[in-house]
Amino acid sequence: MSRHHHHHHAAAAAIAAVFFLLTAPPCAADPNDERCLSHLHQSLYDPSGGLNWTKAAISAPCDGFFSHLQGVTCNNGRVYKLALPELSLGGTIPPELSNCTNLQSLDLSANALSGAIPTELSALLNLAVLNLSANALSGAIPRELASCAYLNVIDLHGNQLSGPIPDELGLLVRLSTFDVSYNRLSGPIPVLLANRTGAGSTAAVGTARFNASSFVGNKGLYGYPLPPLRKRGLSVLAIVGIGLGSGLLSLVLSFSAVCLWLRATDRTAATPGEEGKISQLMPDY
Ligand SMILES: *[C@@H]1O[C@H](CO)[C@@H](O)[C@H](O)[C@H]1NC(C)=O
Ligand SMILES: *[C@@H]1O[C@H](CO)[C@@H](O)[C@H](O)[C@H]1NC(C)=O
Ligand SMILES: *[C@@H]1O[C@H](CO)[C@@H](O)[C@H](O)[C@H]1NC(C)=O
Ligand SMILES: *[C@@H]1O[C@H](CO)[C@@H](O)[C@H](O)[C@H]1NC(C)=O
Ligand SMILES: *[C@@H]1O[C@H](CO)[C@@H](O)[C@H](O)[C@H]1NC(C)=O
Repeated sequence: MSRHHHHHHAAAAAIAAVFFLLTAPPCAADPNDERCLSHLHQSLYDPSGGLNWTKAAISAPCDGFFSHLQGVTCNNGRVYKLALPELSLGGTIPPELSNCTNLQSLDLSANALSGAIPTELSALLNLAVLNLSANALSGAIPRELASCAYLNVIDLHGNQLSGPIPDELGLLVRLSTFDVSYNRLSGPIPVLLANRTGAGSTAAVGTARFNASSFVGNKGLYGYPLPPLRKRGLSVLAIVGIGLGSGLLSLVLSFSAVCLWLRATDRTAATPGEEGKISQLMPDY
């Protein structure tokens, strides 16, 4: 009897499960993803109308593995990829983007985004690809990005980012692409981004971890693999040289001025008639 009973229970449970799966909403929208995408939509400016996001679609961004939102890819009901390149989008990147906690790939490249890279992006612990290249982003590269331990692509080239490259980014061991060229960065290039270290170093002796093409186009950046200390501006030697040169020049000029004056007064003194007056002024020895 008990065996029979068990069968009944199992069947009932299976039917209940199927019934639940059929009647439950295909995928309850994750409140975090919804918050992330609605804030992103609000802070983007879309003059060309290339982005067809609707409020309804934003409120249910994922349908299992499918999304009705352009540029959004879902995995198991969560946003895991966001790719909106080359859409002439203006505006800023909202800090709430960090609410897309399952995001693995963020590509907002080749738009007209301005403002800072929010430090909050460091909460995207699954992030592997960050491509914000070819925008008008300014401010510093957040050192907090070093908490995104899975990052293997950081492409920030072609913006107006300033300040130093944070040393901490050199600790991202999975990093295989790093491009901060053509910004307004300054300071020394972190050694851990420039030089290979540890076991991998034997494979490519004398080659950089990231070569000069990752760093070019930043007037204030210096150090390997770029030239040492500001070759592009005046070198220390040139500045010292110019200082010495101009000092010497003014010395020569004032010498000749004094000589000319002395010669002039000499000639005046030599003119007859004046001689008497002068000798009168001269003290007797
Ligand atoms: C979004 O992120 C913030 C900051 O981490 C958090 O406080 C909030 O609970 C998250 N989710 C929603 C739905 O606001
Ligand atoms: C938006 O455009 C994409 C193609 O870029 C399309 O797949 C999607 O269905 C459109 N969504 C809406 C809500 O029109
Ligand atoms: C980042 O985006 C730009 C423009 O869309 C693209 O050319 C570049 O290859 C991307 N970077 C990486 C590392 O994939
Ligand atoms: C980094 O590598 C360059 C070129 O191989 C070398 O000149 C420099 O001394 C290295 N720096 C450090 C700190 O190892
Ligand atoms: C720099 O490295 C990139 C790949 O990381 C490679 O495509 C490029 O040819 C290298 N450039 C130089 C000058 O070595």
